[in-house]
Amino acid sequence: MAATDLERISNAEPEPRSLSLGGHVGFDSLPDQLVSKSVTQGFSFNILCVGETGIGKSTLMNTLFNTTFETEEASHHEECVRLRPQTYDLQESNVHLKLTIVDAVGFGDQINKDDSYRPIVDYIDAQFENYLQEELKIRRSLFDYHDTRIHVCLYFITPTGHSLKSLDLVTMKKLDSKVNIIPIIAKADTISKSELHKFKIKIMGELVSNGVQIYQFPTDDEAVAEINAVMNAHLPFAVVGSTEEVKVGNKLVRARQYPWGVVQVENENHCDFVKLREMLIRVNMEDLREQTHSRHYELYRRCKLEEMGFQDSDGDSQPFSLQETYEAKRKEFLSELQRKEEEMRQMFVNKVKETELELKEKERELHEKFEHLKRIHQEEKRKVEEKRKELEEETKAFNCRKAAMEALQSQALHATSQQPLRKDKDKKKAGGWSSIYSVTIP
Ligand code: GTP
Ligand code: MG
Repeated sequence: MAATDLERISNAEPEPRSLSLGGHVGFDSLPDQLVSKSVTQGFSFNILCVGETGIGKSTLMNTLFNTTFETEEASHHEECVRLRPQTYDLQESNVHLKLTIVDAVGFGDQINKDDSYRPIVDYIDAQFENYLQEELKIRRSLFDYHDTRIHVCLYFITPTGHSLKSLDLVTMKKLDSKVNIIPIIAKADTISKSELHKFKIKIMGELVSNGVQIYQFPTDDEAVAEINAVMNAHLPFAVVGSTEEVKVGNKLVRARQYPWGVVQVENENHCDFVKLREMLIRVNMEDLREQTHSRHYELYRRCKLEEMGFQDSDGDSQPFSLQETYEAKRKEFLSELQRKEEEMRQMFVNKVKETELELKEKERELHEKFEHLKRIHQEEKRKVEEKRKELEEETKAFNCRKAAMEALQSQALHATSQQPLRKDKDKKKAGGWSSIYSVTIP
């Protein structure tokens, strides 16, 4: 027998033995304890409303929860779709509900609607990411963590009576793996009964043919299987919203009053509002929360961890522990870091070498320049020296001539002072001095 088989046998847990109790012990109160704990803790529920501006989102929310939430009309001029979450604390009997309503403001108002779904997808992913980060913390506080993950997306379809718009199909397709989608036909009082019937069939056909997965009310719990199965056949719900109260008979009911009659919101012959409220709040709220965690969040978490390099089994389908994956990933990261460090070091050395060579080249050039200048300087110096010598000789010759001249002049003066009477004669001969002079000067 292979060693791994032996290991598996020794690790196998023994079958638990069934025993009967001699008397009452008390653990049959566990479900009550759970209920009591949940009630104390409170619940959170997050609804995303997607539908074009003015389709009746806020009115429907007010009608569903029988209250008036803060609403702010969108302008039709939003540059892109913007998600606006608002959280409220609601209480019914002793149950506290932290309700967040997220409005996709400006949906369908842009000329180019190619990316209208993206902010919605990003918002849903961001809530999953926040939850994942909390889960991965060493000190987690999931007990009092405000879970903002979207539990349901109410997709408001315009009551055209024709078919779904491509924006509706694209958006629902992009969202169906991330959130539970319940499609609803809004303002159902604006479409006739026969048209509505055909419209519902058309919508469901288009969703199926385009592979859009909408939320199906669960039929695995016996207590609600029947009602849920019936309600699945009624999708998409055609709803009417109104907070206005109108007197019908001797009762005040929420309705929309028209010159030709009254549309009662809670009358099942008039619209599917009651069906929606029952399915969304009274019967399946917990399943929506559960599906969000076990299906949509699980998918996000798996993809995210796989992206980070974690996996449950290696290539040979052997189970991989988180610790081992972490260690392997850490080693891989460290060796990558080392490789990058070495690369950087090498780059640095090369750069230093290059700079050194450049500096040496510059130094050589400078040296050559200096030598050249030095040579020019010496040449100049030599020429100046020669010039100086020449000048000196010229000065010397000049001085000699000057001395000779002075000597001649003094001789002449002397002769003049000896023969004063022969002045006129000498004057006549004066021109002759110059010829004598020109002969005697060296
Ligand atoms: P934004 O938040 O601005 O995008 O609008 P919204 O989708 O929240 O629509 P809102 O609830 O403000 O309603 C817009 C208009 O539609 C109001 O005049 C409502 O009275 C009207 N309205 C709402 N629900 C219905 C409905 O079921 N039927 C009809 N006929 N009108 C409705
Ligand atoms: Mg609104």
